[in-house]
Amino acid sequence: MEDVTILAIESSCDETAASVVRNGRMVLSNIISSQIDLHTLFGGVVPEIASRKHIEKINQVVTMALEEAKVTLEDITAVGVTYGPGLVGALLVGVAEAKAIAYAAKKPLIGVHHIEGHVSANYIEHPELEPPFLCEIISGGHTHLVIVKDYGEFEILGRTRDDAAGEAFDKVARAIGLGYPGGPKIDRVSKQGNPRAIEFPRAHIEDAPYDFSFSGLKSAVLNYLNQCDMKGEKYVQADVAASFQQAVVDVLVSNAMQAARDRNIKKFAIAGGVASNSALRAAMKQACAENGIDFYYPSPVLCTDNAAMIGCAAYYEYQKGTRSGWDLNAVPNLKLGER
Ligand code: KG4
Ligand code: ZN
Repeated sequence: MEDVTILAIESSCDETAASVVRNGRMVLSNIISSQIDLHTLFGGVVPEIASRKHIEKINQVVTMALEEAKVTLEDITAVGVTYGPGLVGALLVGVAEAKAIAYAAKKPLIGVHHIEGHVSANYIEHPELEPPFLCEIISGGHTHLVIVKDYGEFEILGRTRDDAAGEAFDKVARAIGLGYPGGPKIDRVSKQGNPRAIEFPRAHIEDAPYDFSFSGLKSAVLNYLNQCDMKGEKYVQADVAASFQQAVVDVLVSNAMQAARDRNIKKFAIAGGVASNSALRAAMKQACAENGIDFYYPSPVLCTDNAAMIGCAAYYEYQKGTRSGWDLNAVPNLKLGER
């Protein structure tokens, strides 16, 4: 069988990324130019600045990806690109770049769903993993519990009713003075804290056992900080961080295990930026072992935004015959399962 080599581009938020992926799971290069330092100055991602930085970096990042993979555009089978969901201006940079390259090199263009990319990160590091399996996608913008029925085919069991898990991490981090990016900072500080110090709420939704809600938890943390302030007491940053993190982890673990038991699924994967959280990984590992479930998780660099995961997803879309037209546009609120 002939090799299928995908050049993939990802620019949905604050990473400008390009990658070359062969036959779906072999990553020949994975270049990520992060804008984190820049956005840290503003306490969060500034969409306008993100778009401008993508424009500056994108050609360089694509060139590096091709060079590192030791391939030319001639060797590329197709160009894959994230076209949603994400920041519209940021997405447009990647989409325009991918279109220009595909058109000039006379290669097919494949628009990829960002969340499908996150799920696919698991295929890269687990050659044996194939659908069907249960997957919890936990990122800055999304919290979904799905059954991956086939490549790129999802049955959505649960989703967040309000904030995404990563969003809650980022907001709480800001409130306790850790700043942006919140997730990794809370992860680090929590190691010094007591996760049982403060009893924060774990939201469970009566008639939707797989849905999530994190805004009540976020408010509970803000109330706790307020109360400390009013009493003139100093709160212990590490204890607040660890107790908040534990509350998020407990809900993520219990919803996933509930779904695995109800649907009798023995394979479970996590994906997205929050999936790199060390406490979550440890808790999931233990829960899966107790329930006799095989647990899959990508290494941290493949959990957060990258183009290798987009290349992997594009490969399976390519095999299914998915092709995008030259009118491919950015779709900022693209839903999971839509094209
Ligand atoms: O998947 P991702 O890179 O971008 C989106 O598609 O949203 O996820 C970014 C999110 C941010 O909210 C960030 O705070 C969170 O993932 N995150 C973490 C960790 N690393 C990144 N959250 C908790 N613990 C971490 N170690
Ligand atoms: Zn993402």
